[in-house]
Amino acid sequence: MNEPKNSSILFHEHAIKEVVAKIGLQITTDYKGRSLVVLGVLKGSFVFLADLIRHIDLDIETEFIQLASYDGAKSSGKVTLNAPLKTDLRNHHVIIVEDIIDTGTTLDYLLAMLKGKGPASVRVCAFLSKPSVHKNRYTIDYQGFEIANEFVVGYGLDYRGRYRNCRHVYQIKV
Ligand code: XMP
Ligand code: MG
Repeated sequence: MNEPKNSSILFHEHAIKEVVAKIGLQITTDYKGRSLVVLGVLKGSFVFLADLIRHIDLDIETEFIQLASYDGAKSSGKVTLNAPLKTDLRNHHVIIVEDIIDTGTTLDYLLAMLKGKGPASVRVCAFLSKPSVHKNRYTIDYQGFEIANEFVVGYGLDYRGRYRNCRHVYQIKV
């Protein structure tokens, strides 16, 4: 099996499936009768997003934006916009879907950018969160798991482009 070197499983795929289904059900309940755009942040969120939207039993729109802030296993502190958002968000409710909220740099950038687009509301959904790093500066409305300040891969998360296709989430030493 494809497993990262020097790693240990942090979240097994069974636990991941369970938490993703739960979030999907919650979003379904919360957004009934509303116009919802699910906005995935590429690349890291694509696996989580693909599973999540199939647990949202509503007529939603799915959009993507591509941002990058990481250089290997460290945050660069700068956000680069690789693929901008083309959709009109006015009067739409938006849920940002992130793989992980680490320092919060990416989220700050995104929240500021969305403000100018006049959405009806914005909420945040993150598969993982490192509260000790972002110091709980955010309301993460929908959250999979909290983790310590460690580097993880799998289920969409990468190290230099690798391990996104791993079914479990691994903690790795880099
Ligand atoms: P910030 O610091 O802006 O980081 O909240 C958000 C982005 O950084 C990447 N990131 C990670 N990627 N394992 C990864 O594979 C990690 O432990 C990790 N921590 C942050 C990720 O792309 C996220 O969207
Ligand atoms: Mg990312």
